[in-house]
Amino acid sequence: MISDQDAPQREQPRTDVDGDFRQSDLLRALIDSLPDLVFFKDTRSVYLGCNKAFERFFGHPEHDIVGKTDFDFVAPEQAREFQANDAAMLALESGRINEESVLAADGQLLHLETLKTPLRDASGTIRGLIGVARDIGERRHFRAELEAMNADLERRVAERTAELLAANDQLSQAMGQLVEAEKLAALGSLVAGVAHELNTPLGNARVVATTLQSRVAAFEASLAEPSGLKRSTLQAFLRDARDAADLLARSHERASLLISQFKSVAIDQTSERRRSFTLSEIFEELLAPFRPQLRAANVTIRLNLESEMTLDSYPGPLEQVFANLIQNSLLHAYSDPARTETGTICVDACDLGEFVEVRFADDGSGMTDTVAAHAFEPFYTTKLGAGGSGLGLAIVRNIVRGVLGGEIAFDGKHRTGNSRGTAFLLRLPKVAQRRDEVTQ
Ligand SMILES: Nc1ncnc2c1ncn2[C@@H]1O[C@H](COP(=O)(O)OP(=O)(O)OP(=O)(O)O)[C@@H](O)[C@H]1O
Ligand SMILES: [Mg+2]
Repeated sequence: MISDQDAPQREQPRTDVDGDFRQSDLLRALIDSLPDLVFFKDTRSVYLGCNKAFERFFGHPEHDIVGKTDFDFVAPEQAREFQANDAAMLALESGRINEESVLAADGQLLHLETLKTPLRDASGTIRGLIGVARDIGERRHFRAELEAMNADLERRVAERTAELLAANDQLSQAMGQLVEAEKLAALGSLVAGVAHELNTPLGNARVVATTLQSRVAAFEASLAEPSGLKRSTLQAFLRDARDAADLLARSHERASLLISQFKSVAIDQTSERRRSFTLSEIFEELLAPFRPQLRAANVTIRLNLESEMTLDSYPGPLEQVFANLIQNSLLHAYSDPARTETGTICVDACDLGEFVEVRFADDGSGMTDTVAAHAFEPFYTTKLGAGGSGLGLAIVRNIVRGVLGGEIAFDGKHRTGNSRGTAFLLRLPKVAQRRDEVTQ
């Protein structure tokens, strides 16, 4: 513990009048030691005194300055500015700061910030002014540097922004080109697929036609034989001709079915009727022909449509979309003959303002990831030779995008969840775009 006796004795500063120096000397020494310029003037801006820094600034000793004005030391223009500032402060009767650029006696240009305050006598009357001027060159320099840095920064930000915008532009152009390329590729594979598919029925028809030709030639030859036409030859010819006609008819049917499907892939919006309708109307019309099939497959359809919601779009193609989805559920999801439980297809519509979101979900067998990855591709089917041509979902997507201006995808939540079945999410504009807008 430190006792009072241990504490060092503190010396009192000797500022009393009877000391080594008087208070006015102390004050003078203090003012002279300041780096700021200090000066006093009377109310007519005549100098009453100044400190050492001010002497250096004017290049004259104090006794030369006292009794004179700024006009004796600086350029008249500058002197007028100083005195105008003096007068402004005196009129205000309170402290005032101003900035000035002044040429000092040594030829240096100084940037000063000057605070002028009234000098009052004991009665409070203003007798003149006190000025304290500080060199703010460095501060101004830093401020200028800061401003330059800021400007540089802003310029660089603007440059980067412009670069990013340009890059973004390029990116969206590239994406546009990709989409175009993808469309072309899809069209290419579609055309190739159609050609390939048509090859089978047309090839069959050709084989049958040439076979029939040779049968007819043989029949004609047997007619010309002197022994005459045998009954068995006639019967064989008739049987062959009937078979050939059947085969031709089937091939023709297959080919025209393919062509009609192909036509609906390349569906032409201008030929579709546009009108206002509700989803409930659509489903009412659409479900009627499906009822027997749905009953036979033990499948019910649960509709949860916002019945008041009206669409201004193309009801025909929209019906075709849902018809294809229902057909798919019947053909693929509930096709297992051993199935005993009831199936349910849920259709939920939700009003999103400009759009309507429709969720179509069955609780059938579902798809494997591989099937899901290809299901929308034209001619992709898991029922080849068993009623599937693989055009259903390709047509659906084509109509949704091309005619209705919307989008269709699997409902991810459903597929990755543990529930069975397949779910699609459709997002359709309530007011369908015009054709030229869609194809942009
Ligand atoms: N609801 C569904 N449940 C299970 N699998 C489905 C379902 N819908 C489509 N698929 C699968 O997606 C494949 C592609 O369907 P898509 O409708 O394009 O062709 P498809 O039905 O086989 O033939 P098409 O519709 O031309 O008669 C189907 O073969 C089937 O494997
Ligand atoms: Mg299908």
